[in-house]
Amino acid sequence: MLPADKKAKASEEVMSAQIIDHNVKIILDATENKDNKSGRVRREAAQTAYTFIEHTCFRCHNIVRDKH
Ligand code: HEC
Repeated sequence: MLPADKKAKASEEVMSAQIIDHNVKIILDATENKDNKSGRVRREAAQTAYTFIEHTCFRCHNIVRDKH
């Protein structure tokens, strides 16, 4: 959640949650081999999903750190 003075960016909270939720599902599907893909394809899918999750962390923390 963003602090009170950054509430104008509240849509970022919702967007971050959706991106994280979506990419967690991709990682779970890869680890459970839901689509019966090769190990290499599943590993790359999980790694890409992980970087999308990390990007949401950086994006929101930057909003918090920026003065305006
Ligand atoms: C929607 C905004 C948002 C997103 C997305 C977000 N954070 Fe944060 N994060 C915050 C805010 C705001 C704080 C400061 C909270 C406080 O100290 O009041 C924080 C603080 C933290 C802290 C310090 C906690 C502490 O107790 O000092 C860690 C660690 C952290 N975030 C990790 C992450 C990670 C890892 C992700 C991505 C998976 C993430 N955050 C995504 C907003 C966000």
